[in-house]
This record gives sequence, structure tokens and C-alpha cells, in this order.
Amino acid sequence: MSANLIDGKTLANKVKESLQNDIKRLGNDRGIVPGLTVILVGNDPASQIYVRNKERACKEVGIRSNVVYMEENIHQDDLLREIYRYNQDSDTHGILVQLPLPDHIDEGTIINAIDPRKDVDGFHPITMGSLFVGGDGFEPCTPKGIIALIKETGEEIAGKHAVVIGRSNIVGKPVSIMLLRENATVTVCHSRTKNLKSIAQSADILIVAMGRPESIDSEYIKEGAIVIDVGTTRVEGKLKGDVKFNEAFQKAGWITPVPGGVGPMTIAMLLKNTLQAATIHE
Ligand code: GUN
Repeated sequence: MSANLIDGKTLANKVKESLQNDIKRLGNDRGIVPGLTVILVGNDPASQIYVRNKERACKEVGIRSNVVYMEENIHQDDLLREIYRYNQDSDTHGILVQLPLPDHIDEGTIINAIDPRKDVDGFHPITMGSLFVGGDGFEPCTPKGIIALIKETGEEIAGKHAVVIGRSNIVGKPVSIMLLRENATVTVCHSRTKNLKSIAQSADILIVAMGRPESIDSEYIKEGAIVIDVGTTRVEGKLKGDVKFNEAFQKAGWITPVPGGVGPMTIAMLLKNTLQAATIHE
């Protein structure tokens, strides 16, 4: 048996087309052009590529993007001041501070400074808390994209055993909560988990978000499972997922490729959250 491919690029394009129409309508009806401010600190080449991709995607759907470049050695207070400025700026509906930040800057302090009404990344503790109790705040982009990719298969999530490998604040923790909300039975695994292989083998839905390239082979995968590969590590200039794609493809029922799986959906969900932020704007 070989798997069906879950094509994140095509799904992201579908989402973007629909957003383009919604954004046009918002402009016509209420005169609002959604605005996203992205703050990039330093010269990390990967972050520069991510930010450029976000800018391009904004342009495609009619979101006004504003990228603020700051020096690597900037003082934390200067970054905070910039965030406060855009918290007050009525043309900015969403604020995103590209991570990682340089070591001398405290990530938690920075995320905390973003107005939760503009927290389109979904990283603020208030936004996260709302996600936990089932509120209607922003959902973090990668987990939101993952849920959309699983739904694209047409398979029911309720009652399935979902295994999440990775417990980061950006992916593992929030996606676990969102799968729980979809009535999956959820197991969260991490670097200290014992018997990882046997737990993964029992997953109907396997989400792999470890950041360790090609570390999950077909032995970890149950026949017919839905496999979502969140890993994107650059190895010798090529993007690699956490899953050994070729062998996993022979065993899974559904699988996302890297690149072209989760990545494009993360950006599409950022655009969606920015529209949501602009829509609730008074
Ligand atoms: N760095 C890697 N992924 C992300 C993301 O989703 N948001 C932000 N702000 N930074 C990132």
C-alpha cells in the first residue's frame, strides 16, 4: 500500500484565494485594509527567508505588510518600545516578532508586550490560555494549519488516537489541545518519553514536531495512519522533514511532504489570523 499525499501547497492556495475575496469585501464594506507588522531582529538567514515569504503572501491576498528590521545588538527596551508603538498603530492589526531572538533578549518579555488583540502568532499567554479553555482568540498558525491538513483527508478526528511527538509552545502543546478539542484521544511524547516507538505505532494520527531530520522511519508508523511532518531542517541546502518520507509513504494512509506540507499552511493561517484581527478592529 502507498499513502495519499496531503498537499499543503494546494490547500494553502485555496485558503489564500478565499481570503483574497474576504479581504476585498472588508475593504468595500468597511474601508479596512488588514495590516501586518513583522519585526525581524538581526541577520539570521533562515528568518530572513521566512519573513520574505510572509511579505510575499501578504501581497498576494491584499494585506498591507510592514517589515521592521532591527540590529542584532539592539537593546531589549528599544524592541519593547517598537512593539508598544505598533500596539497603538491603527493601521497595524497584527504584530509578529520573528523568532528566534538573539540570546540577550528575553523572548517571554517580548511576547508578553504584544497586545493580545494583535497577537496573530497566537503566542501570548492570554491567547494560549484562551485556547486551553476553548475561547475564540487566535489559534497559533502551525497547529491551525495542521488541523486543516488533517481535515482535508476527510477522515474523522473524533475518537482517533493522536500521538504528538514534541512539546514546544509553538507546535506540540497547542496542537495537542486543538486535537483534544476535536475529540481525539491525545498522547504527547518528548525527548524523555520511554517506548516512543511502541506509542507511535498505536497512533491513528501521528504529528511529528521534533526538529530532528529523518528520525522517524516506517517502524514508527501504523499501517494506514495519517502522518503530519512538521520538521523543517536545512541539511546541505535542502529542507528535510522529521520523517523518512519514502519509506513512510509506503505504510501511511496519508502523509504531508516537506517542503509543501505544513509550511505553506502556517503562512496561510497567519494571513487568516491577520484578517480576523482586522475584522474585530473597531
Ligand atoms: N520562527 C519560526 N516559526 C515561527 C512562527 O511561526 N512565528 C514566529 N514569530 N517566529 C517563528
